Amino acid sequence: MNAFALEPIETASVDELRALQFKRLKATLFHAYENSPVYRAKFDAAGVHPTDLHTLADLAKFPFTTKKDLRDSYPFGMFAVPRERCARIHASSGTTGKPTVVGYTKNDIDTWSHVMARSIRASGAKPGDMVHVSYGYGLFTGGLGAHYGAEKLGLTVVPFGGGQTERQVQLIHDFRPDIIMVTPSYMLAIADEFERQGLDPRESSLRIGIFGAEPWTNDMRLAIEQRMGIRAVDIYGLSEVMGPGVANECIETQDGPTIWEDHFYPEIIDPETGEPVADGEFGELVFTSLTKEALPIIRYRTRDLTRLLPGTARTMRRMEKITGRSDDMMIVRGVNVFPTQIEELILQTDVLAPHYLCILTREGPLDELTVVVETHMDIHHESREAQAAARDLAQKIKAYIGTSARIELRPTGGIERSVGKARRVLDQRPR
Ligand code: DLL
Repeated sequence: MNAFALEPIETASVDELRALQFKRLKATLFHAYENSPVYRAKFDAAGVHPTDLHTLADLAKFPFTTKKDLRDSYPFGMFAVPRERCARIHASSGTTGKPTVVGYTKNDIDTWSHVMARSIRASGAKPGDMVHVSYGYGLFTGGLGAHYGAEKLGLTVVPFGGGQTERQVQLIHDFRPDIIMVTPSYMLAIADEFERQGLDPRESSLRIGIFGAEPWTNDMRLAIEQRMGIRAVDIYGLSEVMGPGVANECIETQDGPTIWEDHFYPEIIDPETGEPVADGEFGELVFTSLTKEALPIIRYRTRDLTRLLPGTARTMRRMEKITGRSDDMMIVRGVNVFPTQIEELILQTDVLAPHYLCILTREGPLDELTVVVETHMDIHHESREAQAAARDLAQKIKAYIGTSARIELRPTGGIERSVGKARRVLDQRPR
């Protein structure tokens, strides 16, 4: 089969898709119950059994899985196959404590490569393309996930990984790749390095960027597209559910990632009550794997906030571009603030560069938010123009988000560059 043709399921009817999901969901619930003692105990405690699933909506009777479940069964306790059947292990570092460990059978790796190949194709890849992978290789799922998908599609892969920004630019310049896969924040650092080397990033060979692993706004998309002269698409995923390639935007619409629903069943729940909400309503994204062997995951609470939208380029539903995780939400004097809201306002001016960090401190009883942001390369951070932009940003934050913020300007490079996921919030408030 031509790897670049749409798969039948991508354009199947909704009824066909739901029938396939039901069949796979039922099998997954049985697999988890029969082979993972953790799931058996969780289902028993909730008084549910896989035979209680009569329709897809019955999934709501089953208990959620959280990061804590994975941590409590560290390292391999939730696996539903003997460890020897795992072809690979990945782990996400997390900020504190034990990492979350995930495992894949040979079939799981094939499924993952398949959805990643589909994602890269949906992003606009063409036969013969070369892909430069700047997602980190190693325990992080980004690098190897992208790598296997690009290989499966038959493309030429440059497995660069993160870091060594100067060499990244040199190899992009010399090898002439068509596609780059990287976090949006690190793309900006690479763009800066192009300019530092006196190269116009718009003149590079790159045609498409496949960006994810962290929240980024549509304004950031436009900024990257214009600066790099490429099309930017959003790729979503998380290690607990698979890795990158759970959902990917289609180049023809660029309207939010299409969820590869034949492998990952999405729900949106009210994060407070845990009750499912209707499509179109905002809430927390929850996923159930439909085809995984080593680590079937039932109703995993992602903490990502979004809503489900009807399919456009495909039958499968989309998710609205994720603009925040409940973990990233800052509560500043009672006002909920997401870093991406600040990002949108920063991108409204050419004076500031979208390298930024939100620092939370406490003065007496009150929370203080400081937004540390760089000025553009050719603008001095102490210039009157820069000061005016800072005042304007503070006013907009007050007007649109509803909180006061101090703005601290830094010159180019004044904020530490991450080579993977950018850290946007530094909470220095006493616990
Ligand atoms: O970040 C997997 C990945 C790698 C996705 C490369 C895309 C590209 P984790 O390290 O487990 O896995 O982190 C998962 O990252 O729950 C979201 O909060 C966030 N995230 C991932 N993709 C996006 C995206 C990888 N496109 C967590 N937009 C998820 C917003 C994203 N947030």
